[in-house]
Amino acid sequence: MTSVLVLGSANADLVVEVARRPGGGETVLGGDTVVMPGGKGANTAVAAARVGASVDLLGAVGSDQYGELLRSSLASSGVRTAFVRTSARPTGIAYITVTPDGENSIVVAPGANGDVAPSDVDGVSPDGVSVLVCSLEVPVPTVEHGVAWAARHGVRPVLNLSPVAPLSPSTLALLDPLIVNEHEAAQLAPTFEALLDLGPRSAVVTLGARGAAVVTRDGVVEVPAPAVTPVDTTGAGDAFAGALAARLAAGDQLVEAARYAARVAATSVTRAGAQPSYPAAADVLP
Ligand code: RIB
Ligand code: NA
Repeated sequence: MTSVLVLGSANADLVVEVARRPGGGETVLGGDTVVMPGGKGANTAVAAARVGASVDLLGAVGSDQYGELLRSSLASSGVRTAFVRTSARPTGIAYITVTPDGENSIVVAPGANGDVAPSDVDGVSPDGVSVLVCSLEVPVPTVEHGVAWAARHGVRPVLNLSPVAPLSPSTLALLDPLIVNEHEAAQLAPTFEALLDLGPRSAVVTLGARGAAVVTRDGVVEVPAPAVTPVDTTGAGDAFAGALAARLAAGDQLVEAARYAARVAATSVTRAGAQPSYPAAADVLP
């Protein structure tokens, strides 16, 4: 089986439910704090592994209780952690508020994720790796190095542009696909087709409850998502990226892979948290 390498963050998610978000200078009371394993990279890795992919995470955590929480969540989902370095900085933390509509807002303190370096990428053997998936809670130069590494070794580079950060044209040109959500897509280009003018070989726009749009030189194909009642959308985009990578590594075409990823992401929003909400293959909604 060819494998998926995920380059990205691992965070402890400190989650509180609130009736509404506070404005500047305002205080609101929420529920009790719930601590869950998260981070866009670790989430992507767990999502891919749960649906059957062979997965490594390349990242960093601190030598603290949150680092242990992340390592154990990764291991229990079958993600290999040989390339998860222990840094002198604290494990990344995401401060997350969730409102009754399932919507979230997040502040991330990157900590150890800020230490993930280009030299860490050079320590990985490309043997057997078919897909690299990156997200942007680790330093951009590391991600750009990773994408170039992938292209050099015949590994397919996939990048989830989350959170949005400027990438060099030479990096964008290698992506297959660039994954963005609809808000990011609107900021980047006037139409979905025009995303390809930024350079990627293909693009996928996630459309929340409406599924996703796959953009290639052949045109735009929309794939639906099963209708669900959202409980917590945190990490749904990461679930999508991980499932997409898993299916690409298994040999699916991009549209097929996106169709499956939209089902995995929809399943994830029906449960609380990011990693704890990701389905095994048997539980993915039809
Ligand atoms: O995409 C969701 C993730 O963003 C959360 O798990 C949190 O850690 C932040 O990184
Ligand atoms: Na969820």
